[in-house]
Amino acid sequence: MRYTPAVRSTVADVASVPDPSRIPQGQGLPQTVPRLQADDGQQIGLGSKVSIVTGDVILEATDVSRSFRGLQALADYNLQLRTGEILGVIGPNGAGKTTLFNVMTGFLPPTSGSIRLRGQDITGKAPDQVTALGIARTFQNIRLFARMTVLDNVKTAQQLHGKAGFWETVLSTPGFLRKERALEERAYAHLESLGLARFASTHASALPYGFQRKLEIARALATEPAVLLLDEPAAGMNAQETAEITGFIRTIHERFGLTIIVVEHDMSLIMPLSHRIQVLNYGRVIAAGTPGEVRGDPRVIEAYLGVDEPVAAVGA
Ligand SMILES: Nc1ncnc2c1ncn2[C@@H]1O[C@H](COP(=O)(O)OP(=O)(O)OP(=O)(O)O)[C@@H](O)[C@H]1O
Ligand SMILES: [Mg+2]
Repeated sequence: MRYTPAVRSTVADVASVPDPSRIPQGQGLPQTVPRLQADDGQQIGLGSKVSIVTGDVILEATDVSRSFRGLQALADYNLQLRTGEILGVIGPNGAGKTTLFNVMTGFLPPTSGSIRLRGQDITGKAPDQVTALGIARTFQNIRLFARMTVLDNVKTAQQLHGKAGFWETVLSTPGFLRKERALEERAYAHLESLGLARFASTHASALPYGFQRKLEIARALATEPAVLLLDEPAAGMNAQETAEITGFIRTIHERFGLTIIVVEHDMSLIMPLSHRIQVLNYGRVIAAGTPGEVRGDPRVIEAYLGVDEPVAAVGA
């Protein structure tokens, strides 16, 4: 079910492209897999229903507000996000979801309130500082270097971690060339691990739409984040593409031991993926809980899902 059909902004049809990125779930998972518990305390896998994520609070928002010339886009927002958690954030158009990401990642300073990452106050820090501290994001409208290759797109994202000095770059010293090669190898390995290596020399603009979305996520992951914020990763996708990107997000969550906040209108992505959901409306959290709780909440049905929508249709 979609609340808003998003406009597809790019070229080809992903449905015609065989998907190389299906990584069997659970394969070769490292110890970084977050500790997830069922209600009875048993440790369970991600495919199961998960209602509790135990772990330290990694990201905390306290009374965060942001207004634009009198318009309250985000109001008194609070969050305690635990390591390994996948939080879904839903709400109608203009509810403040992207504003939330903008204030969390330094793209916009909040009007008031504070944001902490691993206990460190990051309120008002610049986006590159926030990225360096461990929060990466993707954008509602894909942001890639369209004329660069897929490999170069990843390399530029990685460069945050392997800064070459100015004179080294200009003079192309042996040290610089060595670093450049290492960077290239790392970028290729990164693409390989995400099933995108066969597109390494393809220009980003020529990628099928679904893979552009994946490349954007790959670029975010290249900065080695602890927390990943995904803004409408399934926007403009058909049901098959949405199922595919849902599996992709689940896989990277396990693989990289990530903590994720995902904003999405498409319930077929949000409901099976999220441990917990917050519902925003006019900048305020009007409901929060497990997918099951939120699905049945009359305020949510009225504010977001629309009274004419059969609620059961949002799926499990
Ligand atoms: N930079 C800005 N300047 C002025 N108003 C803004 C700005 N960014 C957002 N807004 C306003 O703040 C409100 C929240 O917008 P936001 O983009 O956060 O909503 P959203 O929940 O992401 O919506 P959508 O589902 O359509 O993406 C809207 O009324 C929007 O017009
Ligand atoms: Mg938005």
